[in-house]
Amino acid sequence: MKKRILSGMRPTGKLHLGHLLGALDNWKKLQDEYACYFMVADWHALMSEYADPENLKENMLDNVADWLACGIDPKKSVIFIQSHVPEHLELHMVFSLITPLGLLERCPTYKEQLREITNRDLSTYGFLGYPVLQAADIALYKAEVVPVGEDQLPHLELTRQIVRKFNHLYKKEAFPEPQALLTKEKRLLGLDGRKMSKSYNNFIALSEEPEAIRKKVTSMFTDPKRIKLTDPGHHEICNLYSYYELFAPERKKEIGQMCSSAKIGCTECKKQLADILIKYLEPIQEKRRQILKNKSALADILDDGEKRAREFAGATLAEVKKLLKI
Ligand code: TRP
Repeated sequence: MKKRILSGMRPTGKLHLGHLLGALDNWKKLQDEYACYFMVADWHALMSEYADPENLKENMLDNVADWLACGIDPKKSVIFIQSHVPEHLELHMVFSLITPLGLLERCPTYKEQLREITNRDLSTYGFLGYPVLQAADIALYKAEVVPVGEDQLPHLELTRQIVRKFNHLYKKEAFPEPQALLTKEKRLLGLDGRKMSKSYNNFIALSEEPEAIRKKVTSMFTDPKRIKLTDPGHHEICNLYSYYELFAPERKKEIGQMCSSAKIGCTECKKQLADILIKYLEPIQEKRRQILKNKSALADILDDGEKRAREFAGATLAEVKKLLKI
């Protein structure tokens, strides 16, 4: 029996290169070794975007199209939408009975978001319970492994605490304590050198048009000490160079040498990088176009995912209800 994996993404916008290197490439590889459940976390998106759900549905289909285009395979993995599987909410309720408030109030991601996000009111009952729903997502499939980025580690720790308490109260080993599977640190920064993120608007979307890619790459920050074309560049601190490392490793040495000997300028270097990225994304975008042309096939994939997810989730929930005498 293969171990089970569950992971999810909030459908809050277009997916970008950071999602590809940070999650999707990894998910794709895991599909052969594990029984994988990949979920669009629309309830989690609503926890912060509840006032403006306008683009939610569109984002969901757009994101799933990207998943498929990047090699997430519905024949291997269960691909579904969280809100299509109501068992998530029922287990969320059960976990909310036993989760101490203090654990949630002290959660570092919660404190940070309350501090940082000022254009939405996150002082709600629902948002405080964000990690409780995430724990339910994971436990519902008895997932042992959860591939996530480092920012999600506090949520996994909370998940372990919640299932440990459940197991202690009701039944030893009802749920496994899940382990995070961290994506190997691939340093892809945004166009401005900060973390690539929708909220910084410093990303290149997987579906970005070639012209837009060129424009965005042109705007990238390079070695600030290099002022004139004849100045030797410091490629080791240049964000462009790290893109070469990730997307064209075979050219890395040559570009590094040309940069540090001032044989290539930043403008030309950007032009070549844009070409590389356009070519890199071309097959993904072609696949994406095909997928989006056939919306009913996409809907079938999600229906099938829902059915398979509910099968497992239903069995887990039946077990939980029995333990709670309801
Ligand atoms: N909180 C995760 C994020 O923001 C998304 C998510 C929801 C998730 N449920 C999950 C990730 C369960 C892993 C497992 O990215």
